[in-house]
Amino acid sequence: MDIIIRENYEQMSKYAAQIIANVVRTKPNCVLGLATGSTPIGTYRELVRMHREEGLDFSEVTTFNLDEYLGVGIDLDKPYHLDQSYARFMYEELFKHINIKKENIHIPDGLTTNPNEHCKWYEEQIKKAGGIDLQLLGIGRDGHWGFNEPGSSLGSRTRVVALTEQTLNDNYEAFYKKANISRSEMPHFAITMGIGTILEARNILMIANGAGKADVVAKCLEGPVTSQITSSAIQLHSGGITVVLDKEAASKLKNIDYYRHVETLKHQYGL
Ligand code: GLP
Repeated sequence: MDIIIRENYEQMSKYAAQIIANVVRTKPNCVLGLATGSTPIGTYRELVRMHREEGLDFSEVTTFNLDEYLGVGIDLDKPYHLDQSYARFMYEELFKHINIKKENIHIPDGLTTNPNEHCKWYEEQIKKAGGIDLQLLGIGRDGHWGFNEPGSSLGSRTRVVALTEQTLNDNYEAFYKKANISRSEMPHFAITMGIGTILEARNILMIANGAGKADVVAKCLEGPVTSQITSSAIQLHSGGITVVLDKEAASKLKNIDYYRHVETLKHQYGL
């Protein structure tokens, strides 16, 4: 596991975007797993910049998003209203700015009339695409990936989940409040890829910033593997893992000096 610590949010975002861009350049038809939340916004902006200024080409890229609230969504073919779906978030922050094909974008459908069937279908689509080459992940304050709240099995698959009060509060503050949507109107359920689904990605890229994430990042990376901190399953992943943190999010890591040392050594030896 490579743990990379950067000075601030901007540098964290640039580093993460560079990793994604490298995958896109070496495998133009790669499959990317994408995440929402405030954390990846800077990464997406940097990817958009690379597309515009450096010609980073997404025309053959396929994407699968981690999750979506149940009960919201957009139709990309039609003008949309200002909803708070993750589909809208992805469209606004990334998809509308790059040359990705609409048919290559996959986001769980929050408006599905048959959520359980839809979850199965979503898993099949990932398999059909050949699996995920690189999965981008943030981390919720209760340690979740996607919407895998504490208590989710570490082998879980794409399914419907109920959101915790903390997640509802966090996402209300970060998004819904700004859109003048009341806390009670927020969706209380979501569709999320499971931890088992995420662990099948060939490579994992987790990002986190800010002092508010310091405790949970330490639990995730250095604490016991537990379904109470579902992202701690990162310790079980067998492929490539890169964790990019700003220095505040890294501030409670016990082995921080070692992680910095490893990065310096790898740089020196060109590894
Ligand atoms: C939501 C998303 C997660 C995300 C988390 C953290 O719960 N479902 O995928 O990692 O928020 O969000 P933020 O980056 O805003 O802290």
